[in-house]
Amino acid sequence: MITELTHKKNQLYLEKVLLKDIAEKYGTPCYVYSKSYICKTVKEYMSSLTKQDLMCFAVKANSNLSILRIIAELGGGFDVVSGGELERVILAGGDPKKVVFSGVGKSDDEIYYALKTQIKSINIESKSELQRVINIAQRNNLSQEIALRINPETTLETHPYLETGALYNKFGISFDELDSCLEIIKKQKHIILKGIAFHIGSGIKNFTEFQIALTKAIETYNGVSKNFGLSFLDVGGGLSPYTDEETINSFISKIKKELPSNINIIVEPGKSIIAKAGVLLTKALYLKKLENNIIVVDAGMNDMIRVPLYQGKHPIINLSLRPKSKTPSMVVGPICESADIFTKDYMYDVHEHDILAITDVGAYGFSMSSNYNSRPRACEVLVQDDLAKLIRQRENNKENLALEIFDDN
Ligand code: LLP
Repeated sequence: MITELTHKKNQLYLEKVLLKDIAEKYGTPCYVYSKSYICKTVKEYMSSLTKQDLMCFAVKANSNLSILRIIAELGGGFDVVSGGELERVILAGGDPKKVVFSGVGKSDDEIYYALKTQIKSINIESKSELQRVINIAQRNNLSQEIALRINPETTLETHPYLETGALYNKFGISFDELDSCLEIIKKQKHIILKGIAFHIGSGIKNFTEFQIALTKAIETYNGVSKNFGLSFLDVGGGLSPYTDEETINSFISKIKKELPSNINIIVEPGKSIIAKAGVLLTKALYLKKLENNIIVVDAGMNDMIRVPLYQGKHPIINLSLRPKSKTPSMVVGPICESADIFTKDYMYDVHEHDILAITDVGAYGFSMSSNYNSRPRACEVLVQDDLAKLIRQRENNKENLALEIFDDN
């Protein structure tokens, strides 16, 4: 449990805010984030890096404008993967000169938007994307600095869906295709190659798992730098927030040790910044028994899909702090899918109407939520010290229906 989440007199607090009060005021399901925790992890990255390096928060992990603003105000940059994310960053006050744009499938409109916004780097993922960016830049007489994202041909021991650095994944440019990309770049004036990028996946437990890819990327950087004046190596994100083997500081220090001092780095953390900053409050609706004891709660896999999708582990705390039970219970959501399970072995008593806090959901929780089963998405609340502020209203069905075209003609 993070230090911002505490028990006092049998009550659960996030910072100095009683979580029960938030559930009462804003209803459930409700995401609640700790501002202090976010500031702490951002600052840990910033203080591990030099002024020439850059920390670019992976916006896909949590794209709420208020969260992005906290990171921008601390001097952080952003890693975006869509025009929508770029628009959010600009709205939140992010500096375009601290934005990198990753992703295998950037559309023409998104590329044009990035070029116009003059972001720090478009991280190119294929030869065809490279040609597309050049064409759009030429047509509009714009210029842009870019990085080539290589596929480092390395594996990572994590959930298979979270691995990105092997040739059987879809990410990056293969070493075989790199030279022909460099030839294309040499022959034109609109884009300027400034960096090499890579990202091996999400859930890196220690530096050793990362080292092979880093070594390959440094060799590539040194080779390419002979003909191009490169200025940064983008080492991606992926550090697990659940590891005891590495802190943010030890991980970054070990990366920096491998690098000559003239190579600046960009890091793109998501989970290690914000996963542990968030809880999802949900109410126990019904208790029942089939083969298992079952607790039906009002949050479902549409609100938080990490358990069914990646077998993510998200400890659950009952705000009523009841005693241990002898038999395990399944905590399940209301969605009509058998996969809609938060845990199969909850070991504490639960009564109807108890509020449970599903922990470590600040990253890829709300941002991956959907309207499946026509459910409005949850609200989001940010706490700081003893204050709680609504930062996204609960959706309602009327708004969700508004885009549908439904008439008699
Ligand atoms: N950079 C790039 C290019 C990425 O693709 C990602 C994540 C990151 C940085 C940030 O990775 P992080 O530090 O958050 O591990 N929905 C999954 C995670 C998908 C990660 C996708 N890319 C989950 O909930 O585990």
